[in-house]
Amino acid sequence: AVGEAINTDIITLTRFLTEEQTKHKEATGDFTLLCHALQFAFKSISYYIRRATLINVCQTSQIIRVKRLTVFQLTGLAGSSNTTGDDQKKLDVIGNDLFISAMRSCGRVRLLVSEEEEECIIFDEFPTARYAVACDPIDGSSNLDAGVSVGTIFSVYKLEEGAKGTKEDLLLPGTEMVASGFTMYGASAQLVITMKGGSVNGFTLDNNFGEFILTHPNMRIPKKRAIYSVNEGNSLYWEEPVKEYINGLKFPTEEGGKPYSARYIGSMVADAYRTLLYGGIFAYPADKKSPKGKLRILYECAPMAMVFENAGGLAVNSKMERMMEVVPEHIHDRSGIFLGSEQEVQRVIDVHKKHQ
Ligand code: AHG
Ligand code: MN
Ligand code: MN
Ligand code: MN
Repeated sequence: AVGEAINTDIITLTRFLTEEQTKHKEATGDFTLLCHALQFAFKSISYYIRRATLINVCQTSQIIRVKRLTVFQLTGLAGSSNTTGDDQKKLDVIGNDLFISAMRSCGRVRLLVSEEEEECIIFDEFPTARYAVACDPIDGSSNLDAGVSVGTIFSVYKLEEGAKGTKEDLLLPGTEMVASGFTMYGASAQLVITMKGGSVNGFTLDNNFGEFILTHPNMRIPKKRAIYSVNEGNSLYWEEPVKEYINGLKFPTEEGGKPYSARYIGSMVADAYRTLLYGGIFAYPADKKSPKGKLRILYECAPMAMVFENAGGLAVNSKMERMMEVVPEHIHDRSGIFLGSEQEVQRVIDVHKKHQ
């Protein structure tokens, strides 16, 4: 029989963060504490997503701000919509509340932008906290009730010395992030994190340990792969270069060329995670219906762009500018995005250049 070799020297996220901290002599431990709070948010969101159809919610619950519940489960709509116009699912609201309290309680976060909060949250109880965080508590929430993978996306910024502590402090390009990443709640919970100028590392939540374990050290995206991921239902609205590019993937003109495979989950986190592992391209272009794009810069586009760049890939907006350099004017600003393998993104850029 094949015996299981037992690893008695496991690298947990906690250990990884401690080792990262000791590499930086000037570190105060604030960032490490913030990451521990992020880790708890991911664990608790993962827990509630997995139990969503099993939990009975009491109508008078103080914990969740869900009004007039007709279905006594955590699936379904909350009956409200957020500032970017999405219908909120109950788990959008719960995930948001879990994330906010994790960030508040660590005492290291001054500002928090969430997809589910119109205004930037300012933690005035911690006036000297030096970090700002942006988050998409549940990405892909339209997939929740079908049990399809969703995720949480985050970006972390360090505030300038003398920052006023207002939302304007967060209107920064992605190049100013100190860390970013996401957790995908799939067959298992997968956490991907990267720090400024660093590598990309992937952790798997071991539910028995209750720990994220380093399972994907130094992730590198393949240089190319014939997979594209886009909501093709929007093709009526696409601009010419996008149509030409996608058609080029489906109808290769070179001798013996094979068409690309299409894969689209409809959760950016899940589509991006697959693209990171297998290679290919993920796109949500700006189009005639959504001239500014759909995905939001601070908590969807920029953090993903940093992960992909640090893994050796590329990320650009619909003007073919480097996504990491795009500066939002408002906290919920959107952008078109193309991200993935270097050669695949280069191909989009080349088609767009021809049209300029
Ligand atoms: P969210 O659930 O956080 O509002 O994000 C939804 C986003 C993203 O996850 C996904 O890539 C995209 O919307 C899917 O949009 P379509 O349904 O228009 O394809
Ligand atoms: Mn939404
Ligand atoms: Mn999202
Ligand atoms: Mn969301």
